Amino acid sequence: MELVTKVSEMQRLGLQWAADRDRTVLVPTMGALHRGHLALLERARELGERVVMSIFVNPAQFGPSEDLEAYPRPLEADIAAADDAGVDLVFAPRADEVYPQGFQTYVQVQDISRPLCGAFRPEHFQGVATVVLKLFSIVQPQVAVFGWKDAQQFILLRRMVADLNTPVEMAGVETVREPDGLAVSSRNRFLSEKQRAAAPAIYEGLTALRDAAGSGREQAGELLQIARRTIDRSALIKIQYLEMVSVDRLEPLERLVKGNTLVAVAAHLDHTRLIDNIRL
Ligand code: PAF
Repeated sequence: MELVTKVSEMQRLGLQWAADRDRTVLVPTMGALHRGHLALLERARELGERVVMSIFVNPAQFGPSEDLEAYPRPLEADIAAADDAGVDLVFAPRADEVYPQGFQTYVQVQDISRPLCGAFRPEHFQGVATVVLKLFSIVQPQVAVFGWKDAQQFILLRRMVADLNTPVEMAGVETVREPDGLAVSSRNRFLSEKQRAAAPAIYEGLTALRDAAGSGREQAGELLQIARRTIDRSALIKIQYLEMVSVDRLEPLERLVKGNTLVAVAAHLDHTRLIDNIRL
């Protein structure tokens, strides 16, 4: 497995592989790999000849009150895990390689970036869209793989690719869960024992909503109330938002639309913020 840190070298290789007609599959990450990332890499291996995983803790997607410095960066362990997972190349640039002095161009996906997480992290999705479009230009992939765990991110990036005619196929991988249902996330490591025991209630709430929808309930207010009641049983969990929106545009829904409904939740357990979602 190769390790590349320079933008110019990565772009040279990406263009070379494209000329050789090898399908390059990019898995963008911020490192601190867990089973969720491994599922993305497994899917990537099925989708093309060359798997590139980027590791870049993107400063542009952190708000002023979010601790960029505290984000875990276990680079050596990540590189070893990528090698074991059959990655061909890890691209791990420094921040000043990606955002050199004078950088001033940002990608703004309008409406989709505003609700849900966007309402609480105003510049987050601009940072995500900008870095992902840059990674596409640098790595020159034909396919990119993202997790449905970050549903708003995936939906927004699909919109960006469609709007800007970017020739990259977007593949989504379902959320990987712990046996008790908690979505696997790099933030789970920050949970205390008690918080970890409480956290599965988030997915239990979503599951209760899914069951109610399965037995014929359709009104968003009623369905969300069912989820909220289950989650609120744990005093340790403070819901930041719990919403039912359309999958294609993230617009609020008054009633369930089968095949185009996303129920998304963000919740705090003290300082740790977890997100989860289901599609119906
Ligand atoms: O999902 C993430 O880890 C990041 O938002 C991404 C897509 C790698 C962009 O920095």
